[in-house]
Amino acid sequence: MMRAVPGTPAEITPAWLAAMLAEAPGFADLRVTGLTPVVIGEGFGLDGTVVRLGLKTSPAPPPFPLVAKLARAKGGAIENDFYRRLAPLMPIRLPRLLASAVDEDADRAVLLLEDMGPAEQGDILKGATRAQVQAVVRSMARFHAAFAGHDVLKDLRPWGSRRTPLVEIVRERTPLFLERYGASLPPGGLDLVASLPDALPEIDAELLAAPRTLLHGDLHIENVIFPPRGEPVILDWTGACSGPAAADLGHLLVEGPTPAERARLADDLLDLHVAVAGGDRGRLAREVRLAYVKHAARALGWGGKEHPGVDHPRVPPLVDAVVRNAFAAALDVG
Ligand SMILES: Nc1ncnc2c1ncn2[C@@H]1O[C@H](COP(=O)(O)OP(=O)(O)OP(=O)(O)O)[C@@H](O)[C@H]1O
Ligand SMILES: [Mg+2]
Repeated sequence: MMRAVPGTPAEITPAWLAAMLAEAPGFADLRVTGLTPVVIGEGFGLDGTVVRLGLKTSPAPPPFPLVAKLARAKGGAIENDFYRRLAPLMPIRLPRLLASAVDEDADRAVLLLEDMGPAEQGDILKGATRAQVQAVVRSMARFHAAFAGHDVLKDLRPWGSRRTPLVEIVRERTPLFLERYGASLPPGGLDLVASLPDALPEIDAELLAAPRTLLHGDLHIENVIFPPRGEPVILDWTGACSGPAAADLGHLLVEGPTPAERARLADDLLDLHVAVAGGDRGRLAREVRLAYVKHAARALGWGGKEHPGVDHPRVPPLVDAVVRNAFAAALDVG
């Protein structure tokens, strides 16, 4: 049972790690002599737990430091597949995956990844800076370009597929959402909410007809870290899927800069995406606007949920910020 998947950081032991690393390139000939696990990214990673390992090895030190990401089985399996199959084709800076295990029965997965820290954590509550958003759009456009129409797309989950259709979630959660946020939405917000059930199927149809590429699928700024030098590192590929580039771009513009900054930057960022990835700028601009409306529907789903699901002091202000940003973007206000 050496390769059992740990459920908590306390279950990460030197013996377990040694078994995991037995075949890992660069680590296989080293003996694990020490481990000082520290949980990182708390309140930023909401579903999983990421542990900086503080690994000591003999006769030589580790070639580079590692983190262990503990996640649910489904997301862990998608991210594992991304790092094994797609990361080698990616034109951007990514951590190396050293080893992984998925336990479907226990609904757990673990990935041992290169530690890309120290780095500044992207933060929706602070609002991403212009330089940060530009750097992420540049990286995003590079992988969107590299995978446009690629063969691997046929093996990926299509963007937007979910167990419960978004329209149903919107219908069910609208009353509580309006109770909480109705009075603080920008002008036009109530009409937007009322229009969502009819608008969403048409938005999906148009976005799914757009040219497809590899999408990150959850490209908010909190899934990005900024090392002191070089390009940003986009993490958390549990939502990797195939779909329209505008979905990632719209997501970042809603869950990155403040609404005022988004309004100032959006045109330049569309230009930047087109300069790197090509495509029709008018079409991308229209699709990003549709992605904003879809994002408002998702934000409604989060804001109208009885409990956000995670207990962390960052979560209530985060839900408020996502609702505010998404409605501002969908209604085109700064
Ligand atoms: N390879 C890494 N190097 C450095 N820091 C990392 C690394 N992976 C994750 N982190 C830190 O942990 C945080 C959470 O990671 P991540 O987003 O992958 O987990 P998560 O959101 O809990 O995942 P999921 O949505 O799959 O449950 C990141 O924002 C970052 O601060
Ligand atoms: Mg994350």
